[in-house]
Amino acid sequence: MCADKPKPPPGQRRPREGAGGTSGKGSGKGKGRGARVSGRQLATRVKTARGRKTSSTRWLKRQLNDPYVTEAGRLGYRSRAAFKLAELDDRFNFLKPGLRIVDLGAAPGGWSQVAVERVNALGDRGGKVGRVVGIDLQEMETVAGADLLQGDFLDEAAVARLLTALDGPADIVLSDMAAQTTGHTATDHLRIMGLLEAAVDFAAEVLAPSGAFIGKVLKGGTENQLLIGLKRDFRTVRHAKPPASRDSSAESYVIAQGFRRRS
Ligand SMILES: C[S@@+](CC[C@H](N)C(=O)[O-])C[C@H]1O[C@@H](n2cnc3c(N)ncnc32)[C@H](O)[C@@H]1O
Repeated sequence: MCADKPKPPPGQRRPREGAGGTSGKGSGKGKGRGARVSGRQLATRVKTARGRKTSSTRWLKRQLNDPYVTEAGRLGYRSRAAFKLAELDDRFNFLKPGLRIVDLGAAPGGWSQVAVERVNALGDRGGKVGRVVGIDLQEMETVAGADLLQGDFLDEAAVARLLTALDGPADIVLSDMAAQTTGHTATDHLRIMGLLEAAVDFAAEVLAPSGAFIGKVLKGGTENQLLIGLKRDFRTVRHAKPPASRDSSAESYVIAQGFRRRS
């Protein structure tokens, strides 16, 4: 399961299913919801229950005291990760109405929800209508306006299904893919970088000229090689750690814009 998926606190209802509408309220730059979350709230204390591991108690306490989790629940986002994409887009301005987006590692669907809003995939804001297709190993509930497939992105047959659903070039490839952590830092780093590398290669195949690639990176040493390739293929390559990304996490994101086709 994705660590960012907000579990509703006891007694609180689940986020609305199928959220991903286009209310346009409370957003940065009027692009949709999200990306303005205050850290100020009263701390919730969690008693250690018999039978619950200390690590689970710590996880629960962190979830209950995380303003992004609360806000994700309030706005109907499937994950607190939704705010990471919203914050990255508020800063780098890559999601625009009418664009065609691929979301790799989409479950439970937070990034797809933000993408649907910001590219106007539902077409309910007037103007250009975008498209969002995504894939994940996990089964996902539908997100209105997105075409989400279940499958392994490292499996050729699954990628073929993704390409069929996309039915043409993409303007942006997003990758928030993360393998299950093993607790062994070097192994976790290599696994996530392997996914990122596959995502970059896929982006080079499907991106339209001037397209963009946004991908999750984990600090650990092998990222430099990848950066060299990205700098060759894109006009600008920047790194950012959005405020919604926990300080304790080694993740950051690479934002590569202005794709030039590999010759
Ligand atoms: C951090 S979560 C993504 C959260 C998502 N961006 C959101 O906003 O809800 C990482 C996801 O990557 C997926 N993943 C990992 N390896 C994958 C693979 N080989 N193919 C497809 N999805 C994969 C995991 O199943 C997990 O759901």
